[in-house]
Amino acid sequence: MKRKLLSVILAAAMVTAMLAGCGSKEAEAPAAADGGAETEAPAADDETAAPAENAGGEGGLVGVAMPTKDLQRWNQDGSNMKAELEAAGYTVDLQYASNDNATMVSQIETMISNGCKVLVIASIDGDALGTVLAQAKEANIPVIAYDRLLMNSDAVTYYATFDNYMVGQKQGEYIKEALDLDNAEGPFNMEIFTGDPGDNNANFFYGGAMDVLNPYIESGKLVIQSGQKEFAEVATANWATETAQSRMDAILASYYADGTALDVVLCSNDSTALGVTNALEAAYTGEWPVITGQDCDVANVKNMIAGKQSMSIFKDTRTLASQVVKMVDSIMKGEEAEVNDTETYDNGTIVVPSYLCEPVFADADNYKELLVDSGYYTEADLQ
Ligand code: BGC
Repeated sequence: MKRKLLSVILAAAMVTAMLAGCGSKEAEAPAAADGGAETEAPAADDETAAPAENAGGEGGLVGVAMPTKDLQRWNQDGSNMKAELEAAGYTVDLQYASNDNATMVSQIETMISNGCKVLVIASIDGDALGTVLAQAKEANIPVIAYDRLLMNSDAVTYYATFDNYMVGQKQGEYIKEALDLDNAEGPFNMEIFTGDPGDNNANFFYGGAMDVLNPYIESGKLVIQSGQKEFAEVATANWATETAQSRMDAILASYYADGTALDVVLCSNDSTALGVTNALEAAYTGEWPVITGQDCDVANVKNMIAGKQSMSIFKDTRTLASQVVKMVDSIMKGEEAEVNDTETYDNGTIVVPSYLCEPVFADADNYKELLVDSGYYTEADLQ
């Protein structure tokens, strides 16, 4: 009788979770994309799905630590993962850390003391969690680095991400094709915006794109009027839209206010592309440049449709969430998880066995098929 009641409750919880997973994407995503109100602390409480006494529940407690609710993608990653893990029978403690390392450390400490069986962590600064990761290892809790690699620790069991180098390569290749760099006379003016220096991914995005574009910079076909080219000069703290926007404001004022044409802006992701676009709209009157991005955030897809952003990279967070759920399942069964890369992701202490999902090129021509037909967004989301 008790068993039956339990399975009815579990089944009801699974349905609710699945509905919440689909629904919350639509409910949360646009809000986040619209500037992401700083409501993480209370929202994080709402997301706490696992009181300590549930730790031993059917599948066990899985702690999921996410960086921020500010950017749309992490809301989707979090809700997709929660729904999938719950559907697979796990109890989930999902927390967002307001882009604050100390907050994330204390959330993970709580997960550990609540008896979680596995930790899934998308870090803010990949280097800032060493001590708490050592605590997890001490407690025999396997750790999966989610999308962003956890650095300088031997406590990282697996890494699941998209092929980050390929993301950058696709952005670089796009620019090469769009400007026809091999044939056109040029020169073309380019500016560069990449991500947070504490996010290992940013190096891969930047590196992948620059490996394609560097020869054209060296030959003089691509010219960076601001001279800002090195990673440290083009990084954007916290990937913040406002930071990218003010850097672009300053560049436009100093180098393009005299009518110099800006032909292309390499942006590593959508939040930086949004800042660049805002700055251009406010202060640039020349022909609209090529602008790259990544994530297919709602605001950016709208900009692609409106011709204000040239491309983005679609990283289907449902695919990544499913892969991570498979990893959790394998770990719980005492089996090895599926990986497809055991060489690339050296975190400074170990090479972390990784599963890389494939990033997909997106633009105004294929977004319908990619994003709407696949059920990722509704048409209404994009209006
Ligand atoms: C992710 C990107 C994202 C960026 C900012 C990176 O680690 O891979 O998809 O745009 O963080 O949130």
